[in-house]
Amino acid sequence: MQRNPVGKMLLFGATGDLAQRMLLPSLYGLHADGLLPEGLTITGAARADHDDASYRDFAKAALDQFLPDDRAGEEAVGSFLERMFYHNVDLSDPGSFASLAEKVGDVSGGLAIFLSTAPSLFEPAIAGLHKVGLAGDTVRIGLEKPLGYDLASSKEINDAVAAVFPENRIFRIDHYLGKETVQNILALRFGNSFFEPVWNARGIDNVQITIAETVGLEERAGYYESAGALRDMVANHMLQLLALIAMEPPSHYDGTAIRDEKAKVIRSLRAIKPEETPQVTVTGQYADGAVKGAIVKSYGDELGKPSTTETFVAIKAHVDNWRWQGVPFYLRTGKRMAARRSEIAIQFKAVPHSMFAGRGGLLQPNMLIIRLQPEEYVQLLVMAKEPGLDREGVRLREVPLNLSLDAAFAGSRRRIAYERLLLDLIEGDQTLFVRRDEIEAQWTWIDAIRAGWAANDMKPKTYPSGSWGPSAAIALTERDGVTWQDD
Ligand code: BG6
Repeated sequence: MQRNPVGKMLLFGATGDLAQRMLLPSLYGLHADGLLPEGLTITGAARADHDDASYRDFAKAALDQFLPDDRAGEEAVGSFLERMFYHNVDLSDPGSFASLAEKVGDVSGGLAIFLSTAPSLFEPAIAGLHKVGLAGDTVRIGLEKPLGYDLASSKEINDAVAAVFPENRIFRIDHYLGKETVQNILALRFGNSFFEPVWNARGIDNVQITIAETVGLEERAGYYESAGALRDMVANHMLQLLALIAMEPPSHYDGTAIRDEKAKVIRSLRAIKPEETPQVTVTGQYADGAVKGAIVKSYGDELGKPSTTETFVAIKAHVDNWRWQGVPFYLRTGKRMAARRSEIAIQFKAVPHSMFAGRGGLLQPNMLIIRLQPEEYVQLLVMAKEPGLDREGVRLREVPLNLSLDAAFAGSRRRIAYERLLLDLIEGDQTLFVRRDEIEAQWTWIDAIRAGWAANDMKPKTYPSGSWGPSAAIALTERDGVTWQDD
């Protein structure tokens, strides 16, 4: 892969929550490890009143608060802050771009823009950048979600961006793709020979993808209330995980080959018809309860008003192609759940015939568990014989074959997902960014579900905070004789 690093960065939304928690600590991490191009400057832009000096203080405070423990107190902070500049900008005011362009200066050495702002500002921002010459051949743009709230709005944003930037200079972020364990799905599937022959409807009974969070609304009422779990998590992160699990082997590790295969999977998702929506989807909203020992309020109480926004969703999905015919993909995500856990559980088919049955030996189908967070491991549950003379029958037990990535790679630094993505943006590698056709296929599938909810007047069922969601979510899999993997 040929690297083509830029000499400058422009960070819109530079005083926002994402910048403080993720972007600044990530850029710092890259700087501290000598990975940022020499001389790269980073200009923050936002509405807040700052000059260069006060923005450096702001950035320093963010680093003090949000740097990971293994980075805290490092000495490179001073030299990192010297890279930082700031410009006041009101994206809705076309007049404010000229002075921004002046501040950024010559971009012939390359400019990477990161746009992390309200989606309503995307179009004026792009138009403004274009007008003042900040969208030329040497400029690439990173776009943070949400990229719209349905297919139509996402197309509108994509069209506005495409009017100025060609696709090969657009970097749409899904931060799940920056996670080491998510990239590890590729290594697991395509770096080993033994999974592939059974990685299909003949070998696999069902796939479960869970992203459970313990946090609630946090400080994001304005956004979350209008988004809900389906748009916030399923439309992007979960469908990307599904695509990585279900895609055909790409011929190369590059942006075209990998994204071609992912897009094919997303386009193969069976559209859920309005009349089947109540059977194959479940929505929920958290009520009062206790999470990790602390009493927490209901969603409505946090919000300060009643709401019909879902904070939990479970879906039975199908990928309609040869490889996956008849294999359900159960997706589940929610806030205020019993534990923070992102995991993919792949349940293989039972053996065709058990020779142990006559001797009392019980078999469980094998299961592959890919734990993405908080721990990082891959576990294969295999049947083994309990030691003994078997006089009362053969005792078989499921035993995990453990690949602890935390332990195996204990010496390697764990990086924030954005470190990888920001570096790829700076160097111009699109492999881990989402292409337009993927996003639009994602929305097409999601919109059909929302239409089904509307047609059936489906409202979220409440679930106690600290649980695994409404009981209907359990019924969704149990009906098929499948149990959610909750250990
Ligand atoms: C974001 C969602 O995209 O992902 C949040 O908007 C969610 O609602 C977050 O909390 C989860 O990310 P992670 O990396 O903590 O699993």
